[in-house]
Amino acid sequence: MTDKVAKLVIGDQTHEFPVMSGSVGPDVIDIRTLYAKTGMFTYDPGFTSTAACDSAITYIDGDKGELLYRGYPIDQLSEKSSYVEVCYLLLYGELPNKTQLAEFDKVVSRHTMVHEQMHYFYRGFRRDAHPMAIMTGVVGAMAAFYHDSTDISDSRQREIASIRMIAKMPTIAAMAYKYSVGQPFVYPRNDLDYASNFLHMCFSVPAEEYKVNPTIAKAMDLIFTLHADHEQNASTSTVRLAGSSDANPFACIAAGVACLWGPAHGGANEAALNMLKEIGTVDRIPEFIARAKDKSDPFKLMGFGHRVYKNFDPRATVMQKTAKEVLDLLGVHDNPTLQVAQALEKIALEDPYFIERKLYPNVDFYSGIILEAIGFPTSMFTVLFSVARTVGWISQWKEMIGDPQKKIGRPRQLYNGAPARDYIPVDKR
Ligand code: ACO
Repeated sequence: MTDKVAKLVIGDQTHEFPVMSGSVGPDVIDIRTLYAKTGMFTYDPGFTSTAACDSAITYIDGDKGELLYRGYPIDQLSEKSSYVEVCYLLLYGELPNKTQLAEFDKVVSRHTMVHEQMHYFYRGFRRDAHPMAIMTGVVGAMAAFYHDSTDISDSRQREIASIRMIAKMPTIAAMAYKYSVGQPFVYPRNDLDYASNFLHMCFSVPAEEYKVNPTIAKAMDLIFTLHADHEQNASTSTVRLAGSSDANPFACIAAGVACLWGPAHGGANEAALNMLKEIGTVDRIPEFIARAKDKSDPFKLMGFGHRVYKNFDPRATVMQKTAKEVLDLLGVHDNPTLQVAQALEKIALEDPYFIERKLYPNVDFYSGIILEAIGFPTSMFTVLFSVARTVGWISQWKEMIGDPQKKIGRPRQLYNGAPARDYIPVDKR
């Protein structure tokens, strides 16, 4: 709380509301008593000016293009840390020492297998099902397999559920992929690091040995790190809203997966690559820029724009560099999709429409190029995002459950429907 107060004048009445300060970032006006004092609600669809919770996990300064996990800048973490270390940081608040990291790594590795019965669950899906449809179903179904970690009032069970989620998501995702291509499921290997194990489960087959390329594994680990958390984005807010009713963690994460699937959110990486391919060649870019600017055309430049970043998405900068590195490593020179992406970025950033609206490439603009080069089909892109974001979702969920001020999320509305009226019998309508 600060000494500052916000004054709201309605007619001849003035109402005062306390102003709260966080450690960094904008102050907030505490309007919890607004309805009691004025009989009015606030109106803020899309939560453009509303802080729905307080949190100590992730901070974004959209104007500066800054992203901090527990205070550490994303560029430092992506250069120096591993994804598992970042998971520890997000979950517990501090970077682990060597022993803590080794112990955490071991615990996560020991939880990577899924209940054997879950294998049969996959077989109920059509082979051509979108893997995100499978993810939504299977993650929700975890509550049916892990009864001993669904009691949210037990902190030990919350802890086990968190580890299970982080450890099993790659296995569940790889199984969704294997199922869609008609190959046998591949069991996890505890001797491999998180990213290498995931690549092994996706790309190895029983018929021959598969060696994980360490540079590819590093790029995969980096993609996971860059997507690990992003404060109160749509899917995280969905997880929090689901969790606010005391639903079990598996149900809450399934809700997050479902929300992430949308093309305005996690589905954008798939949409961005499809768009770059549709553009195809640099000479067609002006046509697509014109469409993006035309208000009568629903087309948007996918991978461009962000609700919070009004500057470069710091993750996009790292992603662009990694895209070039991965393509070089794989000996892919003159990749047409990368060429279109780079030219499109340049043209868009010089165009007044994009400058005025502060539209910059976001994390999804380049990630698809890397994932395709690694060998993933576009339908898997959002799945990979969901694997990475699981730690963010579960950390935010744990923070919320541990918050003594937790309340069920229950927004109000501005009602525009019919006022009360009498029922009309069917023969009189
Ligand atoms: N292409 C063209 N114009 C755009 C784009 C775009 N990608 N994004 C925003 N605009 C325009 C809007 O039409 C609007 O113009 P106007 O002021 O003339 O009406 C203005 O910029 C502001 O845009 P809003 O839609 O109000 O911004 P909002 O914060 O609601 O949306 C969003 C952000 C959803 C990310 C939007 O920029 C978008 O749809 N981008 C493409 C999809 C995408 O890449 N999503 C990934 C986001 S990152 C993530 O989830 C990991």
